[in-house]
Amino acid sequence: MGSYHYSALDDLLRGGGGGLGGSLSSAAVLLRADLNITPGTDHLRLKAHGETLRRLREAGAKIGILSHFGRPRGARVPSLSLAPVAPLLADCLGYKVAFAEDCVGETAESAMAALSDGGVLLMENTRFHAGEEENSPSFARALARLGSFYVNDAFSAAHRAHASTESLPRLLPCCAGAAMEAEMSALGGFLEGARRPSMAIVGGAKISDKIRILRHLAKRVDSLFVGGAMAHGFFEARAYPIGRSRAEPDAARLARSVEAAAAKARCRLIIPRDVIVAASLNESRSRAVSASAIPSDMMALDIGPETVAELGLLLDKTRTVLWNGPLGAFEHGFAEGTMAIARHIADRTRSAGLISLAGGGETATALRRARLDGAFSHLSMAGGALLEWLSGARLPALAALEENRLSLGKESRRRSL
Ligand code: 3PG
Repeated sequence: MGSYHYSALDDLLRGGGGGLGGSLSSAAVLLRADLNITPGTDHLRLKAHGETLRRLREAGAKIGILSHFGRPRGARVPSLSLAPVAPLLADCLGYKVAFAEDCVGETAESAMAALSDGGVLLMENTRFHAGEEENSPSFARALARLGSFYVNDAFSAAHRAHASTESLPRLLPCCAGAAMEAEMSALGGFLEGARRPSMAIVGGAKISDKIRILRHLAKRVDSLFVGGAMAHGFFEARAYPIGRSRAEPDAARLARSVEAAAAKARCRLIIPRDVIVAASLNESRSRAVSASAIPSDMMALDIGPETVAELGLLLDKTRTVLWNGPLGAFEHGFAEGTMAIARHIADRTRSAGLISLAGGGETATALRRARLDGAFSHLSMAGGALLEWLSGARLPALAALEENRLSLGKESRRRSL
């Protein structure tokens, strides 16, 4: 799983258009970005496409950026317009970004035609057209009319089989952008050639959301730590009382299936040995108790100090770690466990060459809050796409890039990430 062979931006820049150009100077290039920004991760997603844009601009391309924003479901929803994002992007990148009020038709076509070489245009939310999510061939053709080449730089939208992600690469010579490649080489490297011992830390609220990921990771890493409310299913599977802690009805059965997958793969499965409990999410009085002794009127809301220490020792022996999902109810102030582990990983990354990968919306927010978003080896911009990837699914946008590689000369390299 997780192995894709596609053309890289270098291939396109070296004239991999196979007779369709050779030089990108004055060529119209459509760049699929992900500008679906949220307050916690704004600058990360805005900056993410900077390298691809820089290289395309240097090559003299005229660049039209396509992106979705929110879920307007085919309607023109003013609050989901990308118009305010154009100046944010311009500020972040340090050059002018024009804006077109549509991503297809006359408006988009004349805005593309007005670009000078190296110019950048952001077009309105692709999801204002129902054809985007329907993956409509006619909408994809309307997009394709705007450019001669297509670059997909949006790993975080690669799990969506939409017109601008899945059909467009079938209509234009295409390749992956620099941000997409960075994600693929960091994440692909983790699952397929990680320096060992390797470890995955998975947190979050619902085990049902992450069950495929847990089973998949158990086959690929040396140790797997499960934290957050998901761990409560593992407590139940061991007949520990969980008091008023959150757990899904089927959690114990799912937890057992992860235990079985880990045992079969000889992966060391670790669950919290102690937890922080409080009477409610809003209660500031809390204390640490053993995971096997959660009082009946309390709920577990974070990992406890013994677990933090145990994880720290394990991390000191680990060479590659991947982390997805908070380890406690950090948005309600139960963030100490998550922050302590984040700091430990950041320290080991800096001082001991630990390869550290993190991803997922909440994880990125937690790291940003701790001002550690630059301290990991790689912080993925992706949410849902990362979860799909980690569960072993094939991502439609990447499959489309793979099936439609540029026709390259013998000397050009193929990507195998
Ligand atoms: C994300 O924010 O994870 C991506 O932009 C995908 O958004 P979506 O879940 O609305 O498709």
